[in-house]
Amino acid sequence: MPRTYIIKDSAQFARKPMNIREAVQADFDEITAIYNEVVANSTAIYNDRPATCEERIAWWTSRQEQGYPVLVAADGNSVAGFGSFGDFRSWPGYRFTVEGTIHIHASWRGQGLGTELLKMLVSRAKDLGKHIMIAGVDAENAASLRFLERFGFERVAHLREVGFKFNRFLDLTFLEYWLTPPQRLPRR
Ligand SMILES: CC(C)(COP(=O)(O)OP(=O)(O)OC[C@H]1O[C@@H](n2cnc3c(N)ncnc32)[C@H](O)[C@@H]1OP(=O)(O)O)[C@@H](O)C(=O)NCCC(=O)NCCS
Repeated sequence: MPRTYIIKDSAQFARKPMNIREAVQADFDEITAIYNEVVANSTAIYNDRPATCEERIAWWTSRQEQGYPVLVAADGNSVAGFGSFGDFRSWPGYRFTVEGTIHIHASWRGQGLGTELLKMLVSRAKDLGKHIMIAGVDAENAASLRFLERFGFERVAHLREVGFKFNRFLDLTFLEYWLTPPQRLPRR
């Protein structure tokens, strides 16, 4: 059942009900546009080339085949953002760890939608018996780092110059969220 959220007021938009629901194929023109705006204007995605709608549908299909959700925040048919998670790494020993991703349309940022999508992704990952959700964020993406830390993610690693975009090397921060409690004491 889709859940309805009333998103915070903004100067641009009146209060509107937003559903968080499973993506459907008809959403992919808008999902692709959101993705490509982030690709073009930020280092939030380490890719220089815009995606085609077919490529994003292929990504969705692959997530579905693996039993992972792709969720959208939508006002009727109009998509304001999307989120998903998938395997962190493909080796079997990583099977309790997933890596999440969320992108919100530029007009809808800062209005609570990312948080609502993330809550739902966390709930779905718990339902699948996962232990950890990882987020890999460009180290200069202050908004995303704050968004994730406010939610409860902890910074655990800083990888120097592993990314390259806009003619420069980029650092990647890994953050970790406990879907179920830690089993061991942290290493000192
Ligand atoms: C990062 C992103 C997913 C956050 O989603 P959002 O819907 O904008 O975030 P929310 O409205 O739920 O904000 C939750 C908290 O995040 C922080 N935050 C969100 N946007 C922020 C910004 N631009 N600057 C600083 N903090 C920000 C705030 O602490 C906010 O809580 P507050 O409003 O009570 O202070 C979204 O802004 C986005 O898609 N950005 C562009 C693409 C991107 O960076 N994706 C993430 C890649 S890892």
